[in-house]
Amino acid sequence: MTAKLETVGLAKTYRETPALLPTDLRVAAGEFLTLLGPSGSGKTTLLQMIAGLVEPSAGQLFIDGREATQEAPGKRGIGMVFQSYALFPHMTVWDNVAYGLRMRRLPKAELGGAVDAALAMVKMQAFGQRFPTELSGGQQQRIALARCFAFRPSIILLDEPLGALDKKLREHMQLEIRRLHQELGATFIYVTHDQDEALTLSDRICLMNQARIEQIGTPAELYDRPATRFAADFLGHSNLLDGLVKTLPDGRAALRIGNRLVPVAPSADLPASGQACLLVRPEAARLTAPADGALAGTIREVVFVGSDTRAIVSLGNDNGAAADVDFTVRCPRNLSPRVGETVGLAWDHARATLLTR
Ligand SMILES: Nc1ncnc2c1ncn2[C@@H]1O[C@H](COP(=O)(O)OP(=O)(O)OP(=O)(O)O)[C@@H](O)[C@H]1O
Ligand SMILES: [Mg+2]
Repeated sequence: MTAKLETVGLAKTYRETPALLPTDLRVAAGEFLTLLGPSGSGKTTLLQMIAGLVEPSAGQLFIDGREATQEAPGKRGIGMVFQSYALFPHMTVWDNVAYGLRMRRLPKAELGGAVDAALAMVKMQAFGQRFPTELSGGQQQRIALARCFAFRPSIILLDEPLGALDKKLREHMQLEIRRLHQELGATFIYVTHDQDEALTLSDRICLMNQARIEQIGTPAELYDRPATRFAADFLGHSNLLDGLVKTLPDGRAALRIGNRLVPVAPSADLPASGQACLLVRPEAARLTAPADGALAGTIREVVFVGSDTRAIVSLGNDNGAAADVDFTVRCPRNLSPRVGETVGLAWDHARATLLTR
């Protein structure tokens, strides 16, 4: 199947420093793909090369199967929304939305209908005659979205569009953006460094790190089966236990952590020796009697988070580990862990992931 959008070896270098290493990416028609990653990982650079605002140093871009690497931005059928809403302050909301349509020479007879439809889509019909300064941040961002959707682009690029909004409004707008994606049926590429936002919105997440793609997959794939320590650490809360891979006398694999040997689930790519890291999510772990756990520790802190309680267990002294590592366990409401208590830590081996990279 032809991808809606494809990059082949697309790369950007500024003064010999790579902003994006050669990158291959395929995005399906109608997909919601999120570029997630820390600051400086190349998200905006990739997005702007797709939009045609930054010229690639190497590689190619294909839209609907045709090469678009050198195509003018206005010819690509791409709409863009930025963190700064970039509304024209001297124009009314209505004229702001109409602006892009006029630029694209939409016939006058169709203009009114298209602007009204775009304003209706973001529930801002009543605000057409206001000026941007007379709107809240969330309302301004809705207008920026309406302005982009008005000309019905088939690809919409959004670069941290909710970055300037407070948490509550951001969460509300995330649901709005999801609804708009479904209504429009367009392909969305969305940049954020907020993992919760990425998990909420995306069909797939493209995790970026140091100018390249670290891992790409559905939110569940990235959360349940991260391929690297970086991916495990970046998405969700992680307990990462570093140790040395050992083979037990009975042939089973184990990880030496401090003075403990922790059995690990057999896996095809498990090396016979060397450093590895075991990922255990807080919800896959449980507290036990000290002698019954794979590891033991002392409860350092108990945090009530509303839906459940988190016990933060300090591992250092009880396992002879060199560094004092914290291990978080999600506890059911009926359990009341106490600070200072010595506990064992157990988990379902099938839900723990061994990482060698
Ligand atoms: N015009 C430029 N000139 C020189 N270096 C640049 C330029 N634009 C970006 N860079 C560098 O390229 C790298 C990637 O930048 P980019 O803006 O793509 O990161 P980002 O992932 O969007 O980060 P953020 O989350 O902070 O927005 C950074 O190291 C940045 O300093
Ligand atoms: Mg950026």
